[in-house]
Amino acid sequence: MAELALWCLGVVVVAAMLHSLPVESQCTAKYCYNDDETDVMKMLVNIQQEIVSLKEELSSNKECTSEKEEIASKKEEISSLKEKLNECLAKDEPARDCTDIHRQGHTASGVYTVHATNSLGKTIEVEVYCDMSNGGGWLVFQRRQDGSVDFYRDWAGYKAGFGNPAGEFWLGNDHLHELTSQKTNYTLRIDIGDWNGETRYAEYPEFHVGPEKDDYIISFGNYSGTAGDSLLTHNRRKFSTLDRDNDSNLGTHCPRACHAGWWFQGCFVANLNGFYYKTSHAQHMYWGIQWVTWRPDYFYSFKKVEMKFRH
Ligand SMILES: *[C@@H]1O[C@H](CO)[C@@H](O)[C@H](O)[C@H]1NC(C)=O
Ligand SMILES: *[C@@H]1O[C@H](CO)[C@@H](O)[C@H](O)[C@H]1NC(C)=O
Ligand SMILES: *[C@@H]1O[C@H](CO)[C@@H](O)[C@H](O)[C@H]1NC(C)=O
Repeated sequence: MAELALWCLGVVVVAAMLHSLPVESQCTAKYCYNDDETDVMKMLVNIQQEIVSLKEELSSNKECTSEKEEIASKKEEISSLKEKLNECLAKDEPARDCTDIHRQGHTASGVYTVHATNSLGKTIEVEVYCDMSNGGGWLVFQRRQDGSVDFYRDWAGYKAGFGNPAGEFWLGNDHLHELTSQKTNYTLRIDIGDWNGETRYAEYPEFHVGPEKDDYIISFGNYSGTAGDSLLTHNRRKFSTLDRDNDSNLGTHCPRACHAGWWFQGCFVANLNGFYYKTSHAQHMYWGIQWVTWRPDYFYSFKKVEMKFRH
C-alpha cells in the first residue's frame, strides 16, 4: 500500500512538471533560443520516459485509475508539444529556398541568402530575390524590366548566371538545377507585363531543371493561369545558347535566330530571354521578349517578365 501511495505521488509530481513547461511561450516568440530549447527537449524526453515506466509499473495495478488516465492524456500533450518544439527548432535551420525564408517570418520582398548543395555535395550560399507577393515565398530566377542587362550570353554565362537579383538577371542554370532539386514539387510561376500596364501569369507544378550533363532539361506539369500556355512546347527540352545549340531542329540555329539562351524547340512559343526593345515593337522578327499565346505576333516584345518558383 505504501508503494502504491508513492507511485500516486510520482504521478502528481509529473503532472505538476508538465504544467510548468515553458515551451509554448517560447515558440510563439519571434526567435527561438537554442540552448533553452535543447534543455526543454531533454526535459520533455525525460518526462516522457518517466511516464512510460510509471505506466508500465502501474498497468498491473487496479488502483490509481484517474491518475492513469491523466498520464495517458499527458502523454498525448507531450507528443504535441514535442512536435511544436521541432517546428520551432526548424525555424533556425538554414533556408533552402524563399518558401523557407517566408516561413521564417520574412514578409518583405528583397534579396536573401539561401543554402543549396552543389554537385560536389558541398553546401553553398546563393543570393536570391524572394518575391513575397501572391502568397509569398517565390524564388525569382529571371527578371526583365529595363534592358540594362544583355541576355545574349554563351553557355558559360547562362551556367553561372549574370546580372543582379535586385534588377535584371538570370540566376544561373547550375543554381536552377541545385535549387529545384531540393524538393519534389516546386511550382513555376511566370508574371508578364505588357506596355499597356496589363499583367498576366502562367503557373506550372512539378518544376525541375536537370543537371548540366543533360543540358539542363526543363520539366513541369500542367498549365494554369491567364497568359495562355506558351511553355508547353518547351517541356522536357534542353537548354541552348549561341555557342551550343542542343535543339533537335537541325535546320535553324535557334539561339542565333531568336537572340537568346533558352529551352528552344524549333524554335519557340515563349522566348523570355530575348532582346529587350524598350518598346512593344521588335525591329527584328523573333528577337523580342515573347509569349505567343498572349500576343501572337512575332514582332511584339513585352515590357516586364519575372520567372520564379516556390514550394
Ligand atoms: C504538385 O502540386 C500540385 C499543386 O499543388 C498538385 O496539383 C500536384 O498533384 C502535385 N504533384 C505531385 C507529383 O505531387
Ligand atoms: C495534365 O493534363 C492531361 C491532359 O489534359 C491529363 O491527362 C493529365 O492527367 C494532367 N496531369 C495532371 C498531373 O493533372
Ligand atoms: C549540346 O551541344 C553541344 C555543343 O554543340 C554538343 O557537344 C552536345 O553533344 C549537345 N548535346 C546534345 C544532347 O545534343
